[in-house]
Amino acid sequence: MNISGGWRQAAIIGRHPVINDLVDQAPDPARRASHGNPSMKTLKKSSKLAHVLYDIRGPIMDRAKQMEDEGQHLIKLNIGNLAAFGFDAPEEVQLDMIRNLPNSAGYSDSKGIFAARKAVMHYTQAQGTQGVTLDDIYLGNGASDLIAMATNALLDDGDELLLPAPDYPLWTAVTSLSGGSPVHYLCDEANGWIPDLDDIRAKITPRTKGIVVINPNNPTGVLYPDDVLRGIVDIAREFGLVILADEVYDKVLYDDVQHTALASLSTDVLTLTFNSLSKSYRACGYRAGWMVVSGDKGAARDYIEGLDMLANMRLCANVPGQWAIQTALGGYQSINDLVREGGRLHRQRELAYELITAIPGVTCVKPQAALYMFPRLDPEVYPIQDDRQFFLQLLEATRVMLVQGTGFNWSRPDHFRIVFLPHEADLREAIGRIAKFLGDYRAKHAKQRLVSVDADPAEQAVDSPVKLAAKAG
Ligand SMILES: Cc1ncc(COP(=O)(O)O)c(C=O)c1O
Repeated sequence: MNISGGWRQAAIIGRHPVINDLVDQAPDPARRASHGNPSMKTLKKSSKLAHVLYDIRGPIMDRAKQMEDEGQHLIKLNIGNLAAFGFDAPEEVQLDMIRNLPNSAGYSDSKGIFAARKAVMHYTQAQGTQGVTLDDIYLGNGASDLIAMATNALLDDGDELLLPAPDYPLWTAVTSLSGGSPVHYLCDEANGWIPDLDDIRAKITPRTKGIVVINPNNPTGVLYPDDVLRGIVDIAREFGLVILADEVYDKVLYDDVQHTALASLSTDVLTLTFNSLSKSYRACGYRAGWMVVSGDKGAARDYIEGLDMLANMRLCANVPGQWAIQTALGGYQSINDLVREGGRLHRQRELAYELITAIPGVTCVKPQAALYMFPRLDPEVYPIQDDRQFFLQLLEATRVMLVQGTGFNWSRPDHFRIVFLPHEADLREAIGRIAKFLGDYRAKHAKQRLVSVDADPAEQAVDSPVKLAAKAG
C-alpha cells in the first residue's frame, strides 16, 4: 500500500487510527531511497536509445513542466495537440465511440475491426489508390504505433532509410531504434521546402531499403506538387525501394490546394501509407490510426509476414478508438469548416504568418497545410550556437514554449517550429513575447558586435555595426 505525501500529512494531522496504521506500514519514500538495494546495479537506458532524439517532448518540455509545477502559466506552441486548444472531435464520432464502448472490452482482430478497415478501404478507393483489400489494412494506436511497426519489420542492423530533413522526429527515432541508419535527404527551403530529388538519388546506397515522405509536411506545413511525388515514385521504382508515406495531415489543407495520395500514383511500387484520426478529426487521444499496404505485394510477402507478426504480438489496437474510424471517415467532414477562408485554423495560420514574418531577421515559407510553420532565424542577425539552449532561455524569459529546429533533425541551429493552434488573442500574445525576446537578443548582440568591432578595426570593413544594426532592424 502506498500513501502519497499529502495523505501522509493529512493522516498525521487527523489522527484517524486506520489511516495512521496504514501510514506506519507504508514505506516512507525518503527512507526507501536512503536504504537503497545494495545488489542493484546502476540502471542505464539501452544503447539502442543512444541516437534517439525526440525533442518535441524533450528537455525544454521538462523545464516547462517544472515551471508549471511552480505555478507559472505557459503558452505551449510546441505540440500539435488540437484538443488542448479547444478543437473538439466531431460530436457524431464521440457519440459512436461511446455507443460502442460496451462492445470494446475484448481484443479485436489484430489488424482491427471489420467496419473500420472497410471504411479505410473505401477511403483509399476515393483517393484513387488501386488494389487495396481488407487484408492490406492495419489499425494501430495512432499512426505512431504503425510507423514503429513498419520500420521494425523492415530494417536489419545497418539498413538505411531515407528520411526528410527537417522531419517529424519520430521517423528518425524509430529508424534508429529498429537498428537502421537514418539518412536524411534535403527538403530545400529555397525551393519552398520541396524534397530535392537529386539529393535523394545521391544518397541511395546498396543498404537503402526505403524512402519516407511526409506530405503534407510536419514541420514545414508544405504540400508537395504531383510532379515531385511522381519523381519520388520513379526513384523508388528504379532502385526497388519501399515508400513510406506519412499523410496524417491530408485533410488539413488551406487555399483550396489538393492533396494527392502517393499510393495513388503507382500500382507497382510497394507503398505503406499512414494516417489517423489525430489531426483531421481532432482526436489525438483516441489513438486511432491506420496503415495501408499497396502496390506490388508479391515481392514483399516476407515483409508483410513480418508486419503481421508484429501486429499479432501487440494483440490489437485500442478498440474504442477503432469504433470512431468508420463514422469519422464517412459523412460530413467538419475539418473543411476550419481550414476554409475565415475558418479558425485558416485565420490562425494567416495571423501567425503575418506576425512571425514581421519580426526582423525572421523569414518563413508560408504553410499551405498542417498546423505548423518552420521559420528561419537569419544567422547574421541571430548568431545562435546552440538552439536548444536558446529556446530554453526563450521559454524562461517569455513563458512561451517552442521546439528548436535541430529537434526536427535540421542540421543548423537557425530554425524553430511554431504551432498555430492557439486562439488569435493567445497567438498575438505569444508571438508578441517571442518578438520582444528576439528584439532584446538583437540589441544585445549588436552591442557585443559594436564592442568587438571597436576592438578590431579590421572587422569594420567586413560588417560595420551600422550595417549590422540595419540588417537586424
Ligand atoms: C507527420 C506526423 N506523423 C505522425 C504523427 C503521429 O500521429 P498519431 O497521433 O496518429 O500517432 C504526427 C503527430 O504529430 C505527425 O505530425
